[in-house]
Amino acid sequence: MPNLIGKIKMLTRARQTHIRIIEGSKITTRDKILINVFRKNTVRGDTEHHYDKFEIPVRRSTTVLDALLYAKSYLDRSVAIRYSCRMASCGSCGMKINGIPRLACYTNVSQLEGDTITCTPLSNFPHIRDLVTDFSQFFDHHKDMQPFIHNEFADIQLKTEITQKEDDSKNKEFGEFKQTPKDLDKYLQFSYCIKCGLCYSACPTAGADLKFPGPQALAQMYRYVADSRDNAINERLDIVDNQHGVWRCHFPSSCSVVCPKGVDPSLGIQLLRRHLVGFSKNEKKIAELFNKDLQE
Ligand code: SF4
Ligand code: FES
Repeated sequence: MPNLIGKIKMLTRARQTHIRIIEGSKITTRDKILINVFRKNTVRGDTEHHYDKFEIPVRRSTTVLDALLYAKSYLDRSVAIRYSCRMASCGSCGMKINGIPRLACYTNVSQLEGDTITCTPLSNFPHIRDLVTDFSQFFDHHKDMQPFIHNEFADIQLKTEITQKEDDSKNKEFGEFKQTPKDLDKYLQFSYCIKCGLCYSACPTAGADLKFPGPQALAQMYRYVADSRDNAINERLDIVDNQHGVWRCHFPSSCSVVCPKGVDPSLGIQLLRRHLVGFSKNEKKIAELFNKDLQE
């Protein structure tokens, strides 16, 4: 069994290979493409879905989102899509493009092989309509991780009150929270997450266990555990140390492969586990959790 560092290297190799597959595919210049769009209005009560095919004129710079917006503007106004920034920053336009979770605004049609592009909604999310899915549960998992710094000395109000009461030696603990570049490096890549949900969609465990927080939420938990300004590590580890938590990940690493922002959620989960093992020094408990009935 490779150790953690070995696994991280394997993951990096897999990730590089995937990037080559996507980005190294032949760049094709075509005048038009066919776009196959998943259609179903679940809110209205549709039980069956179908695909509508649209012919879209394209240039080399056309993205899949541009193509969908063309279809919506000129061919069928009823196509439902979600988007906002059009620059891979807001995380709204996630969908499966040719079967792989991607951002539509960050995927250029010239990088995709074939003359037909198929767009389907993200897996593992409740469906709403066409390419739009419901992110409530995903955001709830994110909120469960308490994605903010816990530090009693960060409260300005408290600072004022305590400063008035306590002696000078205590006051030295207040003020700016300084971090070295090394401190920052421990969590920086995880803070680039835009909550697009692509990793959650690619995760087989998230599809099988609704209580599993998913790669995005767990990577964010690691982001705060690794932040030197945060001092609620015990409470944080308690949140993920259970049979539906961090131990549920089987390390397929598909989350890291699809992330458009270079975040490596799978690495975050492994580091969180390592931290938990080192912190609790309770391997027996971990073995018990692995053997416990996961349906509980
Ligand atoms: S970790 Fe990456 S794929 Fe997952 S939600 Fe964040 S940005 Fe999207
Ligand atoms: S529209 Fe904002 S990420 Fe694609």
